[in-house]
Parts: sequence; structure tokens; C-alpha cells
Amino acid sequence: MTHRVAGHRVSVRPSGVELEVLDGEDLFSAAQRLGYRWPTVCGGKGTCRTCFVAVEEGTENCSPVDPLEREGIEALRKPVDGLTRLACRLRVEGPVTVTKRGVRRRVQE
Ligand code: FES
Repeated sequence: MTHRVAGHRVSVRPSGVELEVLDGEDLFSAAQRLGYRWPTVCGGKGTCRTCFVAVEEGTENCSPVDPLEREGIEALRKPVDGLTRLACRLRVEGPVTVTKRGVRRRVQE
């Protein structure tokens, strides 16, 4: 029996970065695992809101907004309508396209 880890394609504009996000993994963690820098202050704890994205396509493939994320979106003064999400809370179940400036490959040191 073959064992396959399910992944979902998330496209990031305007950089054109394509990320394979695993089932149950949040977008921020996937970007880190794959070697990308994603704007953050809190390091993925859901408190800084620096990681927020605009969902352009695939809102139906996004996880529901949890209470911590709702708080963060409201603090950004954005409507909680599924179009603004925190990358460190966002899980996906299918292809999604987001806009986030500042996502780029980490420089090797
Ligand atoms: S990384 Fe800080 S809120 Fe998402």
C-alpha cells in the first residue's frame, strides 16, 4: 500500500511563489518548512497579525476562522468575511491564491 501525504497548492502573489501546504498545516508553517521568509513578529503564535493575507481565490478551500484569528482580523479593522486571513491560522483543503507582499526565499547563510 502506498502512503501519500496530501498537499494543497497555495499561490502567493505578487511574488508568484507556489507552496505545497500539507493537510492540517497552516500556511505560515508551510512557507517556513519550504524555506520561505514570511512577514512575522510573533513567529506564528497568532498575536502579531503581521502575517495577514488577502484571499483572492479558493475561499471555499479555507479553514473556518477560529476565535483567536477573528480577534486578529478585527484588530486589523478588516471585516471577518473570509477574504482577510492570518497565514499562521489558515489551513487549506484545496487550491488557494493569496496576496502577500514580502514572501521570498530565505537567503542561505
Ligand atoms: S505570525 Fe503573528 S499573527 Fe500570524
